[in-house]
Amino acid sequence: MNTSMHDVSAVMKLAPIIPVLTVARVEDARPLAEALVAGGLYALEVTLRTPAALDVVRAMADVKGAVVGAGTVLNTKDFAAAHAAGAKFIVTPGLSERVVADAGAAGAPILPGVATASEVMRGLDLGLTHFKFFPAEQAGGAPMLKAFSGPFQTARFCPTGGVTLENARTYLSLPNVLCAGGSWIATPDQIAAGDWTGITARARAAASLR
Ligand code: 3PG
Repeated sequence: MNTSMHDVSAVMKLAPIIPVLTVARVEDARPLAEALVAGGLYALEVTLRTPAALDVVRAMADVKGAVVGAGTVLNTKDFAAAHAAGAKFIVTPGLSERVVADAGAAGAPILPGVATASEVMRGLDLGLTHFKFFPAEQAGGAPMLKAFSGPFQTARFCPTGGVTLENARTYLSLPNVLCAGGSWIATPDQIAAGDWTGITARARAAASLR
């Protein structure tokens, strides 16, 4: 597996689902990443929503096969911290031109969030073609992405937010969807409980969606 991917599309194509992970304890980082990779999910998004998150990114980086990125990157300070921690890709819930510029300067793959046609157009103006569609279910779901495919023929998406094992297949059947993201594979409670077997089972089911 190529773990030095410059291109966010390569990260998006590693598996059908990117697990969105909120991890409270750094001790859980390694077994969690191992459980996900064992189930066939390789691109892992660690959200910057806990004090441990940056240490979690660092700890997961040693796990063979894992391509560990940072999510919930809200500003340039978050970007700098995530990049310094070794995040291989950056996910933002919305489109920040400053964070996009930081990622461009650092050569870091970035997946910024969009939810409207105007945001897609702003992203295209910045030279981007790959986006997180967030919050996917609330912002119109699969029909919205289907509608985006008309005017935005070069844009590719990772719907995230309200995606489940049940509705993921509908998203993944769209030609402009490369992968989807979700927290159901490893929720904070499942992680805190050390349910690695259950997490591997859910990862395997997610990995076989396409
Ligand atoms: C998030 O940022 O919380 C992600 O979009 C995950 O959403 P989900 O919990 O609905 O999967």
